[in-house]
Amino acid sequence: MVCLGNICRSPMAHGILEEKAKKWNKQLIVDSAGTTNFHIDEKPDERAIKKMRNYNIDISKQKARQFHKNDFETFDYIFVMDANNYENIIHMTKSEIHKRKVDFILNVLYPQQNMSVPDPYYGEDSGFENVYQLLDTAIEKFIENIK
Ligand code: 4NP
Repeated sequence: MVCLGNICRSPMAHGILEEKAKKWNKQLIVDSAGTTNFHIDEKPDERAIKKMRNYNIDISKQKARQFHKNDFETFDYIFVMDANNYENIIHMTKSEIHKRKVDFILNVLYPQQNMSVPDPYYGEDSGFENVYQLLDTAIEKFIENIK
């Protein structure tokens, strides 16, 4: 799960996918990263931690890291939150196989629409609720698709 800072959207996506994998008994390696180095080693934004806690998911132990080219080898799916993330990650790919692993998370719900999960960082609490709802719905569908 990839976003810009790895402190709001992708940690939430990471927590939601881990929870659903557990619930459906799927053994998945789940991680998240940012395209930037702005927040390396920080825990998620307090507003994201709080929002997730309301839904009984603890993301407070996560630590931000920057996306690394090795991630193209480690993971089968690389989901980005928005078009900016997509461009940055696609620029790092060196093969068609890696390119095909990269997609917008909301394309799980709305194929080929390339819709963004809006960045909640500069907004209000409602932005975090919106991020949670979008990610929860998309990730539920993703789990169904790979069952
Ligand atoms: P995220 O949100 O990409 O969802 O983690 C942001 C976090 C930090 C910044 C921007 C967006 N920032 O500009 O520091």
